[in-house]
Amino acid sequence: MAHNEDVVERKSSQDIINQLSVILRNAQIHDPNNVAVVSAIERFLSLINPLVESERTVSLELIGEFFYLDGMRIRYSLEYLINFDFLVREFKNREVGSIIFKEKINPDDIKLFLKAFIAAGFSQDPYEKISDMMAESNRIIVDRLKKIKEGDEVDVRKIIKKTYFNAVSYSKGVMKKIKSGEKVNIKKAKRIVETMVDQILGEEQLLLSMTTIKDYDEYTYHHSVNVSILSVALGQRIGLRKRVLTELGLAALFHDMGKIEVPHDVLNKPSNFNEDEWRLIRKHPIWGVRSILKLRGFDPVTVRSSIVAFEHHLHHDFSGYPKVKNYKDLDFFSRIVSIADQYDAMTSARVYSRVPMSPDKALSLMMERSDSQLDPLLMKFFVNMIGVYPIGSLVMLDTKELGLVYETDVVFVDRPRVLIIVDKTGKRVKGTVVSLTEKDKYGRYLRSVVKTLDANKYKINLAEFLL
Ligand SMILES: [Fe+2]
Ligand SMILES: [Fe+2]
Repeated sequence: MAHNEDVVERKSSQDIINQLSVILRNAQIHDPNNVAVVSAIERFLSLINPLVESERTVSLELIGEFFYLDGMRIRYSLEYLINFDFLVREFKNREVGSIIFKEKINPDDIKLFLKAFIAAGFSQDPYEKISDMMAESNRIIVDRLKKIKEGDEVDVRKIIKKTYFNAVSYSKGVMKKIKSGEKVNIKKAKRIVETMVDQILGEEQLLLSMTTIKDYDEYTYHHSVNVSILSVALGQRIGLRKRVLTELGLAALFHDMGKIEVPHDVLNKPSNFNEDEWRLIRKHPIWGVRSILKLRGFDPVTVRSSIVAFEHHLHHDFSGYPKVKNYKDLDFFSRIVSIADQYDAMTSARVYSRVPMSPDKALSLMMERSDSQLDPLLMKFFVNMIGVYPIGSLVMLDTKELGLVYETDVVFVDRPRVLIIVDKTGKRVKGTVVSLTEKDKYGRYLRSVVKTLDANKYKINLAEFLL
């Protein structure tokens, strides 16, 4: 992708998106000459015109879930979350991918655009409608939303699967080496995490779907990689820069390093831990600090990783472990990693007897804990990222088919892409992936979720279908 992944910090770009959203919302309820619409247009022009004058053309493009202004990703802010989501949805509904402003814009240009945009919303071929109507303007140009071709998707999936398993085998290798006292090459870890960061920026959903792979024999290795992916994805949502995302991904990958010192038969005990065993397990954050600092000479990244290892069970309100006194604040990375860690741990089968929680159950339990154990603001972003029907959820559809949530749709949060695994007649099928946003010619949805079921009860998991 030729786009610059540096997040635009300028508040004015966020204002542009926000203001465009305000205009559209107002124009959908009021007449174009209404005061609210007119003043919203004025405000929008005061933001966009200075840019057009200095840059000649300004493009506003939707790629995946993010808007880009002249190729720079615009930071997603909580303050504007609703307006951003609204605009993404309205663009996608009309298959509009970008708007290009050429020359200074006047209120009539915007009014024409509003008319076309609203008319397209009622049309069978929304994009054709809007581009037809906009043909008379040479100051505002619209372009179609780009879609990934089916064929491409298969290859991307292969590449992403490779990244995931590379990371798992690396984390396995590192832990084994440290255990035997060997020196560990952290450069390789950095390269692996950098690849994951790149893939999350481009194909967030695909890499996130890999985190549903949880192998209980190799729990700790998969868990480390899953926590790293979930942390980076969350960091990306709040607009962290690429370099910071890599540091976060590394810290997350090493968060449970201290577990190598917990005896194997305790760690993998099939029944509940007794008090002595708990005492050992509660030491892994401190042991983690020691192992990480042994990785190589002091540098800011290793130091920060060791802080995260120390703090990841401390909790937002310090009610966790190890017990601390007069502790000021959790490191920002630790707050992110704690959320990713709890989510992955809850949704994994750690030992043979332990049944993992369904993703939606884990999320609602975590929501109850936000404020006390977890950072409430970050939790909001996390829930928004995982979606109403998290990847891997088993859903029953109104067509009597059963499916697994394959990919969530950030715009239509209740209409994910679903892998059908049981057909209308109740027969197990080697499924196809359908999107719940598909409609028939009357505009009715072809399929909708009726309810979620506990995938573990049916002994079904998405990982089987990914591998
Ligand atoms: Fe831990
Ligand atoms: Fe953990």
